[in-house]
Amino acid sequence: MKCIFLLPAVVCALAAVQAGQPHLTSVISLTSPQEPGERLIISGTIYLPDGVTPAKGAILALWQTDAKGYYAEEGEEAGEEHPRLHARLQTGSDGKYEFSTIKPAPYPHRTVPAHIHAHISAPGFSEYAIIYYFEGDPFITAANRNKLNSYRGGTPSIIKLERDAAGVWRGTRNLKLEHVPSDGQTMQLRW
Ligand SMILES: [Fe+2]
Repeated sequence: MKCIFLLPAVVCALAAVQAGQPHLTSVISLTSPQEPGERLIISGTIYLPDGVTPAKGAILALWQTDAKGYYAEEGEEAGEEHPRLHARLQTGSDGKYEFSTIKPAPYPHRTVPAHIHAHISAPGFSEYAIIYYFEGDPFITAANRNKLNSYRGGTPSIIKLERDAAGVWRGTRNLKLEHVPSDGQTMQLRW
């Protein structure tokens, strides 16, 4: 949105929020410090399709299960459409991003590897889904590894995590924007 020069900044900010465009930053957290689970920080750079030029203004909308494998409160069926742990970030001119969270658990009683979902969008690119998996997950097998890794994002979906000196799991994934045809299959985010 355009802000008129004389308009007080607070009115301008309020108008931006009302327009559904709150100010986004490139470093965010999906959880409060009290959220149960093992701390996890993922960072990287989002590039244009050339894989070299940082993508400015790219938005990652992230959501995931909690440390018990639920999107909503345990026992609720609301599930993925209303995830409790979610947040958006937006890159600056360097394309860098970082989000801190807790390690998601796999869905209870299923064999889907633990994962973090994201929708990626950027000026000139339609929104599409990507996903993060984690090396060492018992549900990643020789049979499904290639398929999991070859999903969108421009780089392998399965990332390696290492614990830092403070016990925080850390992983890196750079992303490369793609022109994905908008086919109506991308889930509409309600948050
Ligand atoms: Fe999921």
